Amino acid sequence: MKSILEADVSGKKVIVWTDLDVPVESGVVTDDTRLKASAKTVNYLKDKKASVLMIGHLGRPKGRDPLLSFQLIANKLETILNSKVEIIDEIKTPQTSLVLLENIRFWPEEEKKDQKFVKQIAKLGDIYVNDCFATSHHAGATMIYLPKLLPSFAGINLLKEVQELGKVFDQPARPLVAIIAGAKLETKLPAIYNLAKVADTVLVGGKLMFEADRATLPENVLIAHDDVDGKDIGPKSIGLFRGEINKAKTIVWNGTLGVYEKSKYMSGTAAVAAAVVDSQAYRVVGGGDTIAALNKLLLIDKINFVSTGGGAMLEFLGGKKLPGLAALGYYD
Ligand code: 3PG
Repeated sequence: MKSILEADVSGKKVIVWTDLDVPVESGVVTDDTRLKASAKTVNYLKDKKASVLMIGHLGRPKGRDPLLSFQLIANKLETILNSKVEIIDEIKTPQTSLVLLENIRFWPEEEKKDQKFVKQIAKLGDIYVNDCFATSHHAGATMIYLPKLLPSFAGINLLKEVQELGKVFDQPARPLVAIIAGAKLETKLPAIYNLAKVADTVLVGGKLMFEADRATLPENVLIAHDDVDGKDIGPKSIGLFRGEINKAKTIVWNGTLGVYEKSKYMSGTAAVAAAVVDSQAYRVVGGGDTIAALNKLLLIDKINFVSTGGGAMLEFLGGKKLPGLAALGYYD
């Protein structure tokens, strides 16, 4: 996998897969960590006088959905990049040097892995950069085919992610405790089984506690066993989880334990966060909502490595090959 820092980018047209999938509530971005992480590569390219076409996704739209349009993030992005960003909603040659293609998932071709669609996009650039670790586990058309059509490189944030998470994957201090909760069940249910193979203990909360099939899970997976209105883990589970977290030497956490946006259901997430930051362990946390919750609790600074990836981090640490990284040659 080649680094963008080694590429000759001056005067080139660069297509960058950027991490723009931020939490949005009532039309407002509630956490901009991913946008800030994406800015490093974009600013580097701008400084080198390259033209940048950003692509990325927001949420999981079914067709064009104004509630998931990049118009929602445009202002924030412009402030972070300190530049005007032109949003285009069709695949056409950009007129300015910093352009954002509308939510890539508005095009059904992306999920259908349509190669012709990717060829059209590839015509708009000379070089391709993947700087979106958080979506690298998702085999969308652009993620897997752009590297086949253009000279491809890893962006600054993506490189940092694989370097930091690679260390945890290769040689974690043990006991390694993984905490998995939150939404996106279809990504996280399989992740529980993979992580159970590499972690000493896996703690499961959030919606997953109702969906995981207890009968088939390995013994080192502990599922929350009491709840508050089905929207948070209960006090007994908090006690159980705290005990395991106290023993850990490495903690990997993705997913809020309950509906943390509502103060009534914030207790599980707050208690687990407190136990994590009070522990002696090396702490790795990832995923949009988990980061947002830790920001809200003012505890994010006490985390050793904050990964932008949620599902991607869990799959990487569980030993699964991420299609976006494979396309860049990371596993060769
Ligand atoms: C994430 O938030 O985990 C990434 O942006 C990927 O989202 P996805 O699960 O919809 O592909």
